[in-house]
Amino acid sequence: MKKILVTGAVGQIGSELTMELRRRFGNENVVAGVHRTKPEGKLKESGPHAAVDCTRPEQVKSVVEKFNIDTIFHLAAILSAVAEAKPNLAWKVNIDGLYNVLEVAREYDCAVFTPSSIGAFGNSTPLDDTPQDTIQRPGTMYGVTKVSGELLCDYYYKRFGVDTRGLRYPGIISNVTLPGGGTTDYAVEIYYEAIKNKHYTCNLKKGTYLDMMYMPDAIKGAIDLMEAAADKLEHRNAFNVTAMSFDPEMIAASIKKIIPEFTMDYKVDPVKQEIAESWPNKMDDSAARKEWGWEPQYNLDAMTKDMLEVLTKRL
Ligand code: SER
Repeated sequence: MKKILVTGAVGQIGSELTMELRRRFGNENVVAGVHRTKPEGKLKESGPHAAVDCTRPEQVKSVVEKFNIDTIFHLAAILSAVAEAKPNLAWKVNIDGLYNVLEVAREYDCAVFTPSSIGAFGNSTPLDDTPQDTIQRPGTMYGVTKVSGELLCDYYYKRFGVDTRGLRYPGIISNVTLPGGGTTDYAVEIYYEAIKNKHYTCNLKKGTYLDMMYMPDAIKGAIDLMEAAADKLEHRNAFNVTAMSFDPEMIAASIKKIIPEFTMDYKVDPVKQEIAESWPNKMDDSAARKEWGWEPQYNLDAMTKDMLEVLTKRL
């Protein structure tokens, strides 16, 4: 990794990943690929940025050529709840966009990181200790695009030798940029509301267990996977990775340890609830641990402590 492009660089993961990559590989060597939302603050000032709409292949190509890119972290994507509302847009961005990136990577010999998701599983998947290799028949457009993306990345590796790698991310909790339209967003919003109002109305039911992860682990995982020795990787695309599994009651209890007056009630969003119930309660991430040393640092309470400290200062 010498010259890196991050697509979706102003998004939830992209905004933090870009800064960490710049810290490690040099500011000038990491290009923030931005589309509708323009970069601001440190993200804008610390290094180069360029317009990259992944649905326009010529734009991806010209940026890769101009900056001599050798590695693409392709994070531009539509999340699950938005994808259900706009399936056509989800297909265009998540599939056509990925296809365009892979084609450019093939032509310019770039390595590609693409996130898959817990959304790549569905009701017929074993939802407890979900194995690395198992049934994947998701019932959402988001899931359809994620499974297709995993297969497409495998294909580009096998057929054309493109160095594609990826993680099946769980819900990612962060405090810099808000997620946009995912099913797991409640686990981010709850911290903001805990500080602002000491109360949160949760849109998923009590007892809805999902895998989750704090942003520093998500970023470290992406970079570690891209730096892992290729000959150790049996799976390459779409490693199960998780740091914790909880339901709304557990995250609320974790917050109450620090903010005792915090309360929560429920107003369930039926679309999100149905999506969440079709996703794993807890994935088995032993393949990632074995093949490239995945080991998350944050559990629920450690994450809660950090989230509340950071957000209290800022809000
Ligand atoms: N956080 C994502 C979503 O809820 C899961 O990949 O859409």
